[in-house]
Amino acid sequence: MEITIDGGVKLRGQLRMPGDKSIAHRALMFGALAEGRQIIHGLPGSADVASTARCLSALGFEITTRADGTVVVGNGGGGVATGCLLDAGNSGTSARLLAGLTAGRRLSCTIDGDDSLRRRPMNRIVAPLRLMGASISAAGDGMLPLTIDATDLTGIDYRMPVASAQVKSAVLLAGLGASGVTTVRETDVSRNHTEVMLRAMGVDVSLETTTRETAVSVTGGANLVGVEMDVPGDISSAAFFLAAAAIVPKAELRLQHVGVNPTRTGIISVLEQMGATITVENARESGGEPVADLVARCSKLKGIEIGGALIPRLIDELPVLAVVASQAEGETIVRDATELRHKESDRIATTVSNLVRLGVDITERPDGFVVKGPCRLSGARVDACGDHRISMAMAVAALAASGSTVIENYEVVTISYPEFFSDLERLTV
Ligand code: S3P
Repeated sequence: MEITIDGGVKLRGQLRMPGDKSIAHRALMFGALAEGRQIIHGLPGSADVASTARCLSALGFEITTRADGTVVVGNGGGGVATGCLLDAGNSGTSARLLAGLTAGRRLSCTIDGDDSLRRRPMNRIVAPLRLMGASISAAGDGMLPLTIDATDLTGIDYRMPVASAQVKSAVLLAGLGASGVTTVRETDVSRNHTEVMLRAMGVDVSLETTTRETAVSVTGGANLVGVEMDVPGDISSAAFFLAAAAIVPKAELRLQHVGVNPTRTGIISVLEQMGATITVENARESGGEPVADLVARCSKLKGIEIGGALIPRLIDELPVLAVVASQAEGETIVRDATELRHKESDRIATTVSNLVRLGVDITERPDGFVVKGPCRLSGARVDACGDHRISMAMAVAALAASGSTVIENYEVVTISYPEFFSDLERLTV
């Protein structure tokens, strides 16, 4: 399917973001492992989150949705089905975290996914889980499907070769069911929703930070206690509106109830550094996660360099930052972001090829891209390339282009934000 987005519109209004996808996956999975019920408000209608729920149900965990949309997980039972097939769909977080969860709980299963997920690297979790004693067979060079056979695990001390919250979480989840202590070390800090939520659920998570690294540890056998929680709005969804407000003349948007965990706010830091005006209002806390309302306005922008420890704090926002960079004065350089090549699409290639069609001066590099702005964009035909964030980034680019832009296969936004195009329409006048 395709959608046409016109440039030259006005952008104004307020919006509540759908619940954070990363937090939602964890709320379901940790709820499944908990004693008592986990009551979750604000779970997003994302297809990825539905994949996690489907896999947990296949494993025998109980998940019910009440009439008001509240989701209730578990009552201490479940997790008895063995040898079942878990279909993670398009969701890397589901596949990787569930591998840690099932290995840690001695649940035999096969984890598979769609064609895109079958092309994404799984060795990053298979290797540490095998070090813990897990029996996992993988297709080809560490790809899905993964078959996990129940074995006893032993805690490990693991230094991650890439900054990845999915790897950290998979190992910690396995560690909860292993004997002894499991420690994960990271040089650049990745999102810490696992640590925050485990603590809120009564698990002792120890954190040691030196100038060189951060080490997170859990002890096997720890009990999780179900809690009632409200999932904060997804800053990775808000990012598309923050970016749009930054580049559409006279725009002003208020985004309510957005999660502003510092491990995720790289987008705000970078937009501010580029000259955007973002005000953080009503800062508060929800289940240990910081939440706020964000007000974004259009401003004069300049190019900057983005790399190093900042990358994990905005990894999912880099495609839309390329769009913002196209409207900024001077050069924007993104480096140290090779991880982008291993997402739902090769996001360096798909961002560059689409933005070139719209008239952006952008050059691909092995670990990122360089944008020379400001560029005059003209509407063109682009393709979401099976990637929800590329679909939404192209919609933002279309707003800054003259004429109309057609986004082919735009409906892939259902992966994280099914209401994106209707929300965008509500804000444009
Ligand atoms: C996620 C972590 C990130 C991110 C993904 C969600 C998570 O992936 O890109 O969208 O929920 O832990 P990596 O940990 O692989 O970088």
